This record gives sequence, C-alpha cells and structure tokens, in this order.
Amino acid sequence: MPTVYLNGTFLPIEDACIAVTDRGFLFGDGVYEVIPAYGGRLFRLSHHLQRLQNSLDGIRLDNPHSNDEWETILDTLLERNHGLAGTNNDQSVYLQVTRGSAAKRDHCFPEIVMPTVFASSNPIIDPDPVMTEQGVAAITLDDIRWHYCDIKAVTLLANVLLRQQAVDQNAAEAILIRNGLVIEGSSSNVFVIEDGNILTPAKGPQMLPGITRDLVLELAEQYRLPYQETDVSEDRLRDSDEIWITSSTREIIPVTLLDGKAVGQGSPGPLWKTMIGFYRIYKESVRNGTAE
Ligand code: PDD
Repeated sequence: MPTVYLNGTFLPIEDACIAVTDRGFLFGDGVYEVIPAYGGRLFRLSHHLQRLQNSLDGIRLDNPHSNDEWETILDTLLERNHGLAGTNNDQSVYLQVTRGSAAKRDHCFPEIVMPTVFASSNPIIDPDPVMTEQGVAAITLDDIRWHYCDIKAVTLLANVLLRQQAVDQNAAEAILIRNGLVIEGSSSNVFVIEDGNILTPAKGPQMLPGITRDLVLELAEQYRLPYQETDVSEDRLRDSDEIWITSSTREIIPVTLLDGKAVGQGSPGPLWKTMIGFYRIYKESVRNGTAE
C-alpha cells in the first residue's frame, strides 16, 4: 500500500483524509507540483520548488515549508515507496498545498490559514514504445482558460475539459490557441521545428513555465542546436516539420498527426530523435547524481 504525506504525517494512502470544508475541495484554492525522481533522485528539485514558491506567491499563500524541509519530506516519501517502484526506483511525486479549511464556506480568505499539505508518489511507467516510435495525435482548440496560467493551480477544470475533448477525438493532447498564437498543450508545453530551428512560445502569464521546456532549451543551448523563444502562429504550427509536446510525466513526445493531417513526414522527426537522446543522457546523469 503506498504511503502518502499529509500535514506532517506519513501514513497509508487509505488512511489519509481531508476535511470536506477544505478550500482545495470547495474552491480549487490551491497549487501543486509534479516532480519526477529517477533512481530515487528528484529531477530539477530546485526549479520545481522555485515554481511552487511563485505559484504560492501568485495565490497569496505562505509557503508552509523551507526548501530543506520539502526535500526531507519528499526524500522520505520516495524512500517509503521504494518497494512499490520497479528496480530502477523511478517515481513521480505529486504535491499539493491548499488554503486549508474554514468553519463556513466563504470565498474570501479565512482569517487564520492552516494550509493542507499533501504529497504522494507513484512508480513511473515507461512511455509506451509505440507512442515514441509513431508519435501521437493532437488537435487544436481555443484556449478557454483564465489569465494566470503561469500559476500551477489545482483549479484545472478548463484543462480537464480540453484534454477530454482531445481524448474523445482519439488524440493525446489539445494544443491551445489564443488570438491566432500557439500557447501550450492542456497539460504540456509545445515546440515546433521549422527548417532545423527549435521554436517555442516565450513565457508569460498565458502559460505554465514548464520545467521540461526549460531543460529542452538548455540542452539545445548546450549542444548548439538553433532555438528561439518566439510567437508561433497557428499557420506556422500547421506548416512545421515537427511538433513536440513536453511535460514531466510525458518527457518529450513527437506529435505526428495534427487535426487529422500528418506533421512533416508523419513520423517522429530527426531533431526529436536527437533531442530525446540528449534528454535521456541528462536523465541518467540525474540518476547517477551528477546532475539535478
Ligand atoms: N502538468 N503546461 C501545463 C498546462 C501543464 O499542466 C504542464 C504539466 C506543463 C509542463 O510542465 P512540466 O514540464 O513542468 O511538467 C505545461 C503536469 C505534469 C500535470 O498537471 O500533471
């Protein structure tokens, strides 16, 4: 049975309960992070904790823990669930902080806030080899979300509905368009390849600053692959040679079918093959402790 962390205690998942008055439950008033760990080592922890801090600042909630405390909590959780992970001990950590409970349901903040702090971890299942050999389908949809998409808020109803629309059309992701520009996926960031250049939209409040996205750009810089953070119009997306989506859980996935039409040659492209190679090398360096 997996162990979870809830408000200072490690306990079996079945025994973990939160109040029905929790503002995360009533209002979606909370933020979260998803952090992979390879061989028991947390991937880019400092980046994830910085984004958590930014999200907490964005919703005006104090961080309940120092970075050292977070590290101890998450390391302990990984250790407790080690036996449930495969021999490689790859796990994905989910952590969530909400604005806690109040006696009465009221939109405004409670006078005294006792945040609810929850973390769990699950074994990482290797990506389906068919998906990486053939790529996945995506559809484009209007971005119907709010103005603070840089906050990793648990309030994900729009993302849920968008993703389900993609799934209903046998697609793995919905690529969101706002004012004619590509923003991101419903739960991923988006890259397009144009004449050998790696392009991705610049960060801003309209999108989540993905940790995987940043790493892909760092790897492009390190290995001297041309890249640019720039506006990507819907037309450019449709004309591109390759499309990738990135996230902590899906790593870098090639999109080979967009709105029912082949992207490039309709199979994972050469730059994706190069980049996923660099990404895997980086992952191994996290596993053996030479990179974060
Ligand atoms: N989501 N954009 C959105 C809207 C996301 O939800 C995510 C990830 C990303 C990629 O961010 P990162 O590379 O840091 O994982 C971009 C996580 C995995 C989730 O909600 O489960």
